[in-house]
Amino acid sequence: MATPTDEDVIYQNLSINARRLLRDVYVLYQKFHDSVPFHDWEHIWFVFHETHRFAKRNGADIELSIAAALVHDLNHLAEPGSTSAAAGSDLRRQLLHTAGYSQDFIQRVEHIVLEAETSQRSDRTPSIEGQALSDADTLYKVLPDTVNKSARYTDETGVHIIELARKIVGEQSPLVEKKIYLYDEQARSDYKVWIERNLEHWRFLLAEYKESEIYRDHVDRSRVPPLAIDEDDLVLDAARSKITSSPTPDDHYAGAHAVAVTTGPIRLPKRRPSAVARPQPSHG
Ligand SMILES: [Fe+2]
Repeated sequence: MATPTDEDVIYQNLSINARRLLRDVYVLYQKFHDSVPFHDWEHIWFVFHETHRFAKRNGADIELSIAAALVHDLNHLAEPGSTSAAAGSDLRRQLLHTAGYSQDFIQRVEHIVLEAETSQRSDRTPSIEGQALSDADTLYKVLPDTVNKSARYTDETGVHIIELARKIVGEQSPLVEKKIYLYDEQARSDYKVWIERNLEHWRFLLAEYKESEIYRDHVDRSRVPPLAIDEDDLVLDAARSKITSSPTPDDHYAGAHAVAVTTGPIRLPKRRPSAVARPQPSHG
């Protein structure tokens, strides 16, 4: 007989309500997978397991902690682009109720979810269940490969990468200074390097990259001006009808691609237009 894994043991010890909740939340995330490329089931699964680990180690109520973990990010499904867990309250209550939990339990889960939000942690210390959830959620942010998922976050939320860096540095730096980035003492020690490297990355992006000319001129699409295309400079006969009178860079490249497909190589404008005002660096 195979030795049961940690996951087997966790699952076997779940209450009927917790199993129902796990199943329903899983089904929901499978159904709406495309809407949450960052806050997806992979994230929930991680937070569920790590919350269980921290709750067990620190004597928190495991049923409350893992229920909160499973429903903590429902705001991203209920209200895409929302920045507060409160936007998921109704959906959270509905799922918890369907799973068979009492009104008192549902209220306590709601409290745990809200107190564990990063933006709320500077002012008051969460309950031990809130700490378990917060540590699990925070640990996901500093996994060495989570930074590679930034594009998923910006796609999902519409938040610009620089705004994300500003939010992370603004919210997380004070927590590191207060030594409450992670509440679990062992985890603070185990993941010290991950925490430092992660914040270093975001601080670097905010302080150095954002102010660089390379970023300002060629990367930040919100500031790169549309090209004032002189059509005489282009070989666009086959695709001219697809080009608008004031093309954006996207239109230009789409048109250029169409020409390349239908007529072979094209000539790009000979020079960068000088009539368009150059953007000024922002220090905001
Ligand atoms: Fe989360």
